[in-house]
Amino acid sequence: MLYVANWKMNPPSLNDAKRLLKNIRTGINTGVKDKKTQIIICPPAIFLTKLGRPSSLIKFGIQNIGSKERGAFTGEISVLMAADANVEYCLVNHSERKLYFNETTRDANQKIKLCLEKRITPIFCIGESQKQFKKGKTKPALENQLKQGLKDIGIMNIKKVILAYEPLWAISSQKGAKAENPDQILGINILIRKILFGLYDQKIARETKILYGGSVAPKNAALYVKNKSIDGFLIGSASLNSFSFLNIIKNCQKN
Ligand code: 13P
Repeated sequence: MLYVANWKMNPPSLNDAKRLLKNIRTGINTGVKDKKTQIIICPPAIFLTKLGRPSSLIKFGIQNIGSKERGAFTGEISVLMAADANVEYCLVNHSERKLYFNETTRDANQKIKLCLEKRITPIFCIGESQKQFKKGKTKPALENQLKQGLKDIGIMNIKKVILAYEPLWAISSQKGAKAENPDQILGINILIRKILFGLYDQKIARETKILYGGSVAPKNAALYVKNKSIDGFLIGSASLNSFSFLNIIKNCQKN
């Protein structure tokens, strides 16, 4: 199981970030170690090179990269810089990037290609809006995102992409957000695998890792794992508290 901590624009200082990571490391060394567990911490990029080296259990991811490799793009971080900082994973097209920074699925496609070229594993975030969900448009929304985001990426590379399904309204920062029903997540997981089968083949449909994200917490994480269709979680607010984050992992390991 993959547990991806998306710290978003938190915590406010490097010292706080170091403390949070130290508490997670300590907790893991005293009880959470397990061969099937992989933790990926995605801190704010400015802290990335200051949090120590990755270990076999804890790797680092970046929350975003620019859609161009180099050039005059004020404020952007290049994939080259991410690779130089020992980053092994990259979140791509997170819903907050789409919502607040107008990022498109075309941008996602460029970023996924850049990551793959530099041997960084892209974690491609997909998910429908509440409006699309209510109108029964989840399937076309996900299908479009997958088609455009993965356009012209050869099958050998598709295998290296991790998907993260995050329905927008389940993300804790959104007004009225609530954790999605685990049975519904199972259904959408199957739907994503069917779409992958249509676009590629059975092997891709079966073996692609699909994470779930949206208000994941110690009290609900194990419910999602029960259906065995989920390969891990993308965790926002609960990853900012080492106890909550570790308890999510512990509760899932019991299942
Ligand atoms: P929450 O876990 O706070 O709902 O955030 C989900 C998310 O956006 C992770 O990328």
